[in-house]
Amino acid sequence: MEPIKQILSLQIESALSATTGIADCNANVITASKLEFGDYQANGVMAIAKQLKQNPQELAQSVIDQLEQDKSNLVESFEVAGPGFINIRLNLKALLSRANTALSNPDTLISTAENPQTIVVDYSSPNLAKEMHVGHLRGTIIGDSLVRVLLKSGHRVIRQNHVGDWGTQFGMLIAYLQEIQSQKANKLPQELSDLEKFYRSAKDRFDSDEEFANTARKSVVQLQSGDPAHNQAWRRFIEESLAHCETIYDKLNVTLTRADLDAESRYNDDLENIVAALNSKELLSESDGARVVFLSEFVGKDGDLLPVIIQKSDGGYLYSTTDLAAIRLRSNEWNVDRSLYVVDRRQSLHFQQVFAVAKKANIASEKISLEHIAYGTMMGSDGKPFKTRSGDIVKLIDLLDESIRRAYDLVSEKNPDLDESPRQQIAEKVGIASVKYADLSKNRTSDYVFDWSTMLAFEGNTAPYLMYAYARIKSILRKDEAHGFNPSIQSISEPEERLLLLKILQLDEIVQAVANECFPNQLCNYLYELAGLFMRFYEACPILKASKTIKSSRLALAALTAETLRVGLDLLGIETLEQM
Ligand code: ARG
Repeated sequence: MEPIKQILSLQIESALSATTGIADCNANVITASKLEFGDYQANGVMAIAKQLKQNPQELAQSVIDQLEQDKSNLVESFEVAGPGFINIRLNLKALLSRANTALSNPDTLISTAENPQTIVVDYSSPNLAKEMHVGHLRGTIIGDSLVRVLLKSGHRVIRQNHVGDWGTQFGMLIAYLQEIQSQKANKLPQELSDLEKFYRSAKDRFDSDEEFANTARKSVVQLQSGDPAHNQAWRRFIEESLAHCETIYDKLNVTLTRADLDAESRYNDDLENIVAALNSKELLSESDGARVVFLSEFVGKDGDLLPVIIQKSDGGYLYSTTDLAAIRLRSNEWNVDRSLYVVDRRQSLHFQQVFAVAKKANIASEKISLEHIAYGTMMGSDGKPFKTRSGDIVKLIDLLDESIRRAYDLVSEKNPDLDESPRQQIAEKVGIASVKYADLSKNRTSDYVFDWSTMLAFEGNTAPYLMYAYARIKSILRKDEAHGFNPSIQSISEPEERLLLLKILQLDEIVQAVANECFPNQLCNYLYELAGLFMRFYEACPILKASKTIKSSRLALAALTAETLRVGLDLLGIETLEQM
């Protein structure tokens, strides 16, 4: 099945083309803005009428006449409205047939792309010198949700965790690690267990001891030139740091594994080829001894061209160089259609520049679409980037544990009779889901204020609300003694039923939009509205007390709602609970 909106768009667009002779028409189909307009409306006729200097209402009528010639059974009626809109009312039988297909095979709730693409999602990507902190939360969960959506839409997805593991900081860390190892080898595991502290101690040594600082500087060079002892120490550190990340991924129910690593060090041997490629295209210039690319479209405030630094005067390479090498791998070897970079908005100039250089130097293939999926900053209630009271960076693990603790209190308050073990289990799920959902439900490009009380509330657009809605439907279904009823929706008589039915069938087009535009908050809004429509249905339409056929039909509608919520939440990386 195709999403309803897509079917309507295609039908109306081809009717528009047939009527006007214009090849590419945009029907601009949206869900109806008011109930009385029907289910969908096409707003595209007006713009085309204007372009052709025609009366828009007349054009809309001609398009409808064209559509009527072979109307699909999906549509009940088309109607001209207002200055030239087309109102669309769908056929109930067709909706029921779709819904009943989905009941027997929930996979049909979401259709798969006709032409699957190969898509890289570059996300999470922490710097391994330190532990993951709250700044890594957004990229990690937005990226993971996009991966789930793209996979479900039938695309081939390559996850890439572009961790930073190769900069100057690692010289300092290796030097410090070697120092401890030689002095008190048995203490090393303990020292490494808190990477944040380890980093700080190394940094203190670096800042206060000139001799140590020199050793540290030499260590980077030795590491990068392949010295075995330095590589061994580096590996030890990286291993430790990755284990920290994995604990977080595990807790967050994020699908990244070791196999998805795309560490900066991977490109070490390829960087001089990048320099050569840029050189052969005559794109390289010298600036203060460094090799840089100037592109006319990047101009600073003072009117001077902004350089993209490729190689520093000491021969060292930069972040941009590695990203260029990664683009080459992705486009030339992997033949990727889209490469998505789920990275902080503050890196947007970096990506614009790297993408532009890659295209100009033919490092990127003709077809690859390079997209920076930018996100804003998580703020504290003071409106500044989220920190501890004392102004320190918050470790991600501490934030997640606090959320679980708070969820535990919440669950205990709501359900004091629960045994300890299920209580803990529910708290973990709700705690993690709340943090994730609070983030995913915000428009990713904006900053947002992190607030415990709203995200852990049972009212509003929150994870607890949706999880509770799901569990509640499940408990209604369990109450039906006839259990194992033949699930099919046969009768839709009340408006609340029809609204809910149509909403369920719209999951497909929402998922399609998220796959294209990469805004998971669209899916959150959808699920929130879906849960709201269920509550309205539940208030207006008795289920268990209804007559036999109506009861069975309503139970089936409730079951399909639950399934839709479950599938939608799963695409956000949120696990549902059968009981709360
Ligand atoms: N490691 C980088 C950082 O911590 C983010 C990497 C993002 N991905 C990329 N391909 N540049 O800022």
